Amino acid sequence: MNDARKYALVTGASSGIGWHISEELARRGYYIVAVSNQNDQLRNLKETLEKTYSISVVTVDKDLTQEDSAMQLLRFCQDNDLDIEVLVNDAGMFFFSEVTKADYETVKSILTLHILTPTLLCRLFGEQMAKKHRGYILNLSSITAMMPYPGISLYAPTKAYMRHFTRAFRSEMMLDNVRVTCLMPGATDTSLYSTGNINVSFLKKLGLMKNPQTVARAGIQALFRGKAVCIPGFFNKIIVIILPLIPRFIIEMITRRTSGVRKK
Ligand SMILES: NC(=O)c1ccc[n+]([C@@H]2O[C@H](COP(=O)([O-])OP(=O)(O)OC[C@H]3O[C@@H](n4cnc5c(N)ncnc54)[C@H](OP(=O)(O)O)[C@@H]3O)[C@@H](O)[C@H]2O)c1
Repeated sequence: MNDARKYALVTGASSGIGWHISEELARRGYYIVAVSNQNDQLRNLKETLEKTYSISVVTVDKDLTQEDSAMQLLRFCQDNDLDIEVLVNDAGMFFFSEVTKADYETVKSILTLHILTPTLLCRLFGEQMAKKHRGYILNLSSITAMMPYPGISLYAPTKAYMRHFTRAFRSEMMLDNVRVTCLMPGATDTSLYSTGNINVSFLKKLGLMKNPQTVARAGIQALFRGKAVCIPGFFNKIIVIILPLIPRFIIEMITRRTSGVRKK
């Protein structure tokens, strides 16, 4: 299937930030390997990008909460001779629940989707990039990584893992000329919150929600400029500095009141 084309593999490409990251990469001439578990949306992406940017999009319908999905993706790329130069770990899910009330399978899914699969993808595709002394990896964290938050007690810590992992992995991969960047968006207007109880219209009214195009563009620019971390938006940059300085009990009081977790 391949000649000297440059391929970018984007997980979570079917919507939101991942869709726009795919578009940013297509604009730069990359052929896209678009992965998610919604085939119809992937087909839309393929049609849109191929028509607009004269590139090809290979769609892969895969559930990344499956433990062997990273290895399956590597094999798929090898079997089809797709030489991946850019890896974007974007796929994510979100839900509000106290830990003991969360569905058992959902707990396993979020930990696999946010931690195991992206880490294994970094392991597998990172090794290939290191051998070629060329490559780019963008990992999605979140500004929630800065703050344990009742109600999203599983979501935020997975993003903290991704933040720390990406920082250390970046230092290792530098030795092999592979650039690794951590993208930490704040609230972004996507379908991620469709299952949560975040007051989206309130955040929009305050101007605190960014659009996914802006976030995607900032992340891709940071990746190609070799930045360690990208926090899109002035307000989000300030939050990340201020949050660790606020006493824990104040944060807990505010987050309890806003997160829908049982009051004492
Ligand atoms: N939106 C925000 O405010 C925000 C803030 C900080 C960080 N982030 C992070 O940004 C990333 C993208 O989120 P988004 O806001 O763009 O949300 P989104 O529009 O809901 O996109 C999530 C993507 O992940 C895919 N995905 C979910 N579960 C999957 C699974 N089991 N297997 C394969 N693909 C799966 C979705 O595919 P399907 O639609 O096919 O399920 C979709 O393409 C996530 O990692 C999220 O944590 C978002």
